[in-house]
Amino acid sequence: MKGKVTYGSKPLVYPMPAAIIGSMVDGKANFMTIAYCGVVNNNPAMVAIGSNPSHHTMKGIREHKTFSVNIPSTSMAEKTDYVGIYSGRDVDKSKIFDVHYGVLSNAPLIAESPVTLECRVREMLDIGGNDTIIIGEVVESYIDESCMTDGVPDALKIDPLIYTPNDRKYWSLGDTKGDGWSIGTSLE
Ligand SMILES: Cc1cc2nc3c(=O)[nH]c(=O)nc-3n(C[C@H](O)[C@H](O)[C@H](O)COP(=O)(O)O)c2cc1C
Repeated sequence: MKGKVTYGSKPLVYPMPAAIIGSMVDGKANFMTIAYCGVVNNNPAMVAIGSNPSHHTMKGIREHKTFSVNIPSTSMAEKTDYVGIYSGRDVDKSKIFDVHYGVLSNAPLIAESPVTLECRVREMLDIGGNDTIIIGEVVESYIDESCMTDGVPDALKIDPLIYTPNDRKYWSLGDTKGDGWSIGTSLE
């Protein structure tokens, strides 16, 4: 195609979140960064992550069948990168964040994350790739009071850390470009 560069078979869904996944491994909270994380169902609410099965966090997910998804704000960039570089097998990542718990006793939630989800594993799928796909049902979600505007989570106040994998960069949100389910009607 003219003007296009073929870039190979790559999961180029731009951008990706820089989600921090938490689990309880051998009685200790552990966290890892996951860019392969997305929404897969609205009702019941479900998210999916793609994780290498050898990650230490996976041990806790396999054992307890629960995990947390923590959306970091941009102010958490260094800590987010840290838990994505070092393994809980080698370093103690349980003290990096202030941890608390909601409904599930083995899904450690990061207090400083503006958005956190507690999830129960619905499926763990090995479909022949290098990652295990984990589908989790969201049991409860939490948002910082200070990030709500008129009863709705406010993206600018949440200030989520965003990631692009091929250039390995973290980003923040830009400006809004209009209202969803609305601006398209101008083309009617
Ligand atoms: C920005 C970033 C994104 C990452 N995304 C993923 C991912 O989507 N899937 C994955 O398996 N590992 C991913 N990793 C690697 C894990 O976070 C990393 O191997 C981590 O050290 C695993 O920790 P653990 O062994 O304590 O569980 C990512 C790392 C970084 C820095």
